[in-house]
Amino acid sequence: MNPYLKIDHVGISFSRAGATTEVLRDVTLKIQQGEYVSIIGHSGCGKSTLLNIVAGLLRASTGGVLLEEHEVDEPGPDRAVVFQNHSLLPWLTVYENVALAVDKVFGGKRSRAERREWIMENLALVNMAHAKDKRPAEISGGMKQRVGIARALAMEPKILLLDEPFGALDALTRAHLQDQVMEIHARLNNTMIMITHDVDEAVLLSDRIVMMTNGPAATIGEVLTVALARPRRRLELVDNHEYNRCRAAVLEFLYARNRFVEAA
Ligand SMILES: Nc1ncnc2c1ncn2[C@@H]1O[C@H](COP(=O)(O)OP(=O)(O)O)[C@@H](O)[C@H]1O
Ligand SMILES: [Mg+2]
Repeated sequence: MNPYLKIDHVGISFSRAGATTEVLRDVTLKIQQGEYVSIIGHSGCGKSTLLNIVAGLLRASTGGVLLEEHEVDEPGPDRAVVFQNHSLLPWLTVYENVALAVDKVFGGKRSRAERREWIMENLALVNMAHAKDKRPAEISGGMKQRVGIARALAMEPKILLLDEPFGALDALTRAHLQDQVMEIHARLNNTMIMITHDVDEAVLLSDRIVMMTNGPAATIGEVLTVALARPRRRLELVDNHEYNRCRAAVLEFLYARNRFVEAA
């Protein structure tokens, strides 16, 4: 069976002031529809760069990305991105921020009433319907991330790309949003690629964890399958053998075999 998404021997180098840095080398990964894949690795190894190549925001120097056998060479609504720092427009309300994306994708295809209903359905999915008329400055960081997720989901993307989506949130808000994302994934069965540097988050949410080596010329060091049944409940996993095995494997990869070395 052909994979849904294929990252095929991707490499990328950046040139600056005559010097070239090879950031990624020979990254190959196949992802099936409905899979939840996390990418973990030390800061600066090239995780966001890889996600941006899948999003079509950056062009690979070598290799390429295929989504349902079509080459990805530009951004598109079939690959929605949620960034660490919400990217809501401050002068628009919560509703209008989601509407902007929905009108762009479905403007010619769905009636006004249908679009309105769809926007509200997606806000309800992240429990933000009550705040539809608020502006970003009036809501918390966690709520802003939820709106960002609603906006991304409302585009009905084939793949949702999450770049450290909970990284800027406090621990309690983060746990709450992780649970919500697990629920959404269970309900919609969408394909997710999430960057994180949080080992527990990676194990809790993922079907597979992709561990990147340190840069320059970073690549995939190891891929770990998390064989935990769903739905997963964080409290029940504390003394679960598989949970702890995965956790130990990721920690060992990151801190024993690929220790972060601060550049001079
Ligand atoms: N547009 C760019 N031009 C030059 N260097 C870049 C560019 N984007 C990223 N880099 C470099 O690529 C490396 C990986 O960055 P990034 O993908 O943001 O890492 P991560 O997300 O893993 O922390 C860093 O050394 C960064 O400086
Ligand atoms: Mg990054």
